[in-house]
Order: sequence, then C-alpha cells, then structure tokens
Amino acid sequence: MVIKSRFKDYKVILENNTSFIRELVGLANSEYVIDKKVYEFYKDLFSSIPQERLFLVEATEQNKIVDTALDICEKITEIPAKRNATLISIGGGIIQDITGFVANITYRGINWIFVPTTLLAACDSCIGGKTSLNYKKYKNLLGTFYPPDEIHICSQMFQTLTEKDFKSGLGEVVKFNIMAGEDGLKNIENNIDKLLKRDSETINTFVESSLNFKKGFIEVDEFDKGERIKLNFAHTFGHAIEVVTKYEIPHGTAVAIGMIMANHVSFSRNLLDENIVRRSENVLLRVIDVEENLLNQPLEEFLKAIRKDKKQVGDSLTAVLIDDYGKTSNLSIVHDLTEKEVDDALKYFMELYK
Ligand SMILES: NC(=O)c1ccc[n+]([C@@H]2O[C@H](COP(=O)([O-])OP(=O)(O)OC[C@H]3O[C@@H](n4cnc5c(N)ncnc54)[C@H](O)[C@@H]3O)[C@@H](O)[C@H]2O)c1
Ligand SMILES: [Zn+2]
Repeated sequence: MVIKSRFKDYKVILENNTSFIRELVGLANSEYVIDKKVYEFYKDLFSSIPQERLFLVEATEQNKIVDTALDICEKITEIPAKRNATLISIGGGIIQDITGFVANITYRGINWIFVPTTLLAACDSCIGGKTSLNYKKYKNLLGTFYPPDEIHICSQMFQTLTEKDFKSGLGEVVKFNIMAGEDGLKNIENNIDKLLKRDSETINTFVESSLNFKKGFIEVDEFDKGERIKLNFAHTFGHAIEVVTKYEIPHGTAVAIGMIMANHVSFSRNLLDENIVRRSENVLLRVIDVEENLLNQPLEEFLKAIRKDKKQVGDSLTAVLIDDYGKTSNLSIVHDLTEKEVDDALKYFMELYK
C-alpha cells in the first residue's frame, strides 16, 4: 500500500513473519530506537545491533517528552552520515510519537523507518504523519507532521500484547468498520470472534482495511483542516475518558466507550436507527474491558476535559456524530453538543456496562 503525502509518498508493507527485521538491523548509518518490552520479547532478532546504535525506551506517557527526544537526537550525531542517517523505530504509538518528532527535527529531517508493534499503531496511527510529545501536564501539546519513509507491519508481533493493549487496538479497528457503514458493521460482526482470538490472517485483513479506510481521509486532508477531522468520531468523549481516568483506560478502549456515547447522542437526535445502535454496541462491548469504578467521576470532570480538548473552538461543545447510516455512513462535525447530552450519554453507558 502506498500513502500519498505532501512530504513524500510512503509505503506500508504487510510482512508474513519477522525475518524482515534481520534485514533492517543490517542497514548502514542507522540508529535503532526500540520499545524496551519489545526488545526483551524479541531479543534474538535484535542481537546484531551494535550497542552504540541502540536506544531503548520504556513506553510510558512520562517518557513521551522532549528530553527523551533530545537524547535520541544527540545519539544520532554520532552517526557520520548526517542527513543520510536513518532512524529505525520499533514499538507502539508512544515510540512512534517520540521518534517521528526526532526524525523530523534532526538535521531538518532524516530517513525514518517505523515498525508498529501494537495493533493500535498498526491499524491507525502509523499512517497520517502526526508526531506528538507531552509537555508538563499537557498531553500531545508539542507536535509536527512527518510521515515515515517505510512502515513494516508484522501481526505475529501482536501475540505478545497484553489483553488490555490488544483490545485497545481493536477499539480503533471496530471504529473504522462502524464508520464505514452497513458493510463494515456486518464485516466486524462476522469476524469479532476471530479477532479476539488473535487469528493472524483475520488481523491482517482488518489492519489492511482499516489503513485503507483512513487513507481515504488523510490523502484528501493531510493536515486536519476538514475531512480528516471526521476520523475523530467518538474521540471527544474518548479523550475525556482518558483524561479523567488518568490514562488508566487506554486510547482505543476510551474511543470504544466514546462510540457508544456518540451513537447514543445520534439516536437521541433521531439521526441513527435503534437497530444500528444495538448492533454496534454488541460488538463494542466485546472489546471494552474496564474497571467500572474508574468511570465513577463527577460529570464536571468529563465536561472540563471536553472543554480543554484542543479540538474545541469557542464555548459550545464540538463532536463528530454519525447522522445517516446506510450502505455508507455520513459523519458530521457538530458544534452544539450540550452538557445534558454528555451527561445522558455517560449515564447511558454506565447502565449498559453494568
Ligand atoms: N501519532 C498519532 O497519530 C497517534 C494516534 C493515536 C495514538 N497516539 C499515541 O499513541 C500512544 C498509545 O500507543 P499504543 O496504544 O500503540 O501503545 P504504547 O506505545 O503505549 O504501548 C502499550 C504497551 O504495549 C507494550 N508493547 C508494545 N508492543 C508490544 C508487543 N509487540 N508485545 C508486547 N508488548 C508490547 C508497550 O511496552 C506498552 O507497555 C499514546 O501516547 C497516544 O497519544 C498517536
Ligand atoms: Zn484514536
């Protein structure tokens, strides 16, 4: 698959096994930034990387900061090649966000190869070119656009993910399928069992279709000015859930809960059939796995988090909602979401999840 971008066209390669890593580790003038856990799980694959070219990062939000990025930049200065240096990063969204930023700012842009090792990074974040760092209490405050030159995905690597991280990735997979309309919904209903069992072939099919779906949005609006904003379906609610639970609930799971809330708002506004709402919920509830007490926060905390979201403009609340569902679905950006609707949607989810 090739993604067209204003920077460069870049390739996504679906790999059948991990042998491609042996080729990557032999590349000249490369610096390797690898998720510490991934390094431990797949140590044998990385054994020929010289220590001086290896930088391990513990994938935590606390490490997704400019200090880590600068440490990597400094390490890259030891490679004689300068602008022809290649950064090869292997990990999930955290490693992607840090290393994309580094590849962008070092010598005003060096080569970058990314290997997503979480389902979330593979099905969603690896394309689109967003890089982000946290600053003080501000999540993803610092960021740029800079896509990798190549992305290699090997679904075998998702077998070692925890159930929590795997299901988080499934949240985004389900999102793309619900957004796609009737065929997408049917497709995910028919395959959710296989996905939950981590059947490699099924995962590959859904990673590819998710990326294809996202490609349609980012190629027409790479810089988030219009069409791409629709990919934020359910994210207004999802981000608020992440914030109030202090990121205990991972991104894709928060988005899955956000979808139930968003669809409830659409249903209350007579924009979505009850049948579609129920069918979507049945799939979503299979991938949501959270401790209920995490969500027992005062409504004011959710509203505060929604208001602080960087996508909010002005006083009214903004969200992306499904407003028509058929063979394809239609999504609209609405700016008149009320506090009562958020309250109702949250209570609705809590009742449903009990
Ligand atoms: N740039 C974007 O477009 C974009 C989009 C969505 C999310 N994000 C960011 O991505 C981050 C979340 O990323 P994520 O959900 O991919 O996970 P992650 O990078 O936070 O990793 C989750 C956990 O899985 C572990 N892990 C990674 N690969 C593994 C493997 N193959 N086997 C076993 N364990 C493995 C990690 O060590 C970590 O403990 C957040 O910081 C979020 O802000 C970025
Ligand atoms: Zn998301």
